[in-house]
Amino acid sequence: MSAPSPAPVSTLAPWPYPRWIAHRGAGKLAPENTLAAFRLGAQHGYRMFECDAKLSADGVPFLMHDATLDRTTNAAQVLSTTASNTGGDHPWSALAQLDAGSWHSRTHAGEPLPTLENMARYCIANGFFLNIEIKPTPGAEEKTGQVVGEHAARLWQGQAVLPLFSSFQPEALAGARATAPHIPRALLLDTLRNGWLDLARQLGCVAIVCNHALWDAALVAQVHGAGLRALSYTVNDDWAAQRLIHLETDGIITDRVDFFSPATP
Ligand code: G3P
Ligand code: MG
Repeated sequence: MSAPSPAPVSTLAPWPYPRWIAHRGAGKLAPENTLAAFRLGAQHGYRMFECDAKLSADGVPFLMHDATLDRTTNAAQVLSTTASNTGGDHPWSALAQLDAGSWHSRTHAGEPLPTLENMARYCIANGFFLNIEIKPTPGAEEKTGQVVGEHAARLWQGQAVLPLFSSFQPEALAGARATAPHIPRALLLDTLRNGWLDLARQLGCVAIVCNHALWDAALVAQVHGAGLRALSYTVNDDWAAQRLIHLETDGIITDRVDFFSPATP
């Protein structure tokens, strides 16, 4: 009689990133996706930041969440626009003139939009970690992934810890894999779409970043059992953070850099 097969052992690779990740730099406490926000998050002790990256019309990766420029810049006042006002409609030379801070507060008036290169320099110089959410202008998914991948591969060349790419758009992750196969990728999920785990595997992902409410013990076990890490967005309540820590998930993206201490184990 042969010996019983051993129970499956999780093959989780080492994870170099801290548990706590500051959403868009410092959540809502500073203008999102700006250097000012990163500096504020760092003042609160955060060592890893999430940001949203897309392309200008001439292919410069820069930080912005929304498809359009209107909520977080003064583009409507200073750029001559036609029907559309997306970040992808304008060259970087025009986007670089925008005020991305006044919408938030007078303190931040004149804060510029940063390029991905600006943020890479800041993070590398300070030993900080970056989660680059690839947030393409609609229709530019694969191209955005490719270009962000090219830039990140160049900017982080020779660094011990690379950034973590993430996206809700599989095409963007495929694009990033084409130009930067060595930079780790995570699939973002708002819901457990059909075939999500197969998709993550096909894309060679190392992590799933979920809407935090989706995690339960069975899902964590499934993801860890597949060799992937389990991260959550956007966690702003103590009860939710405690639940995720108890579930032994691996990363928490929060707006509340003033409330959660990143020193919490
Ligand atoms: O990357 C996690 C989180 O930022 C995803 O949602 O809309 O805030 O970019 P959103
Ligand atoms: Mg994001």
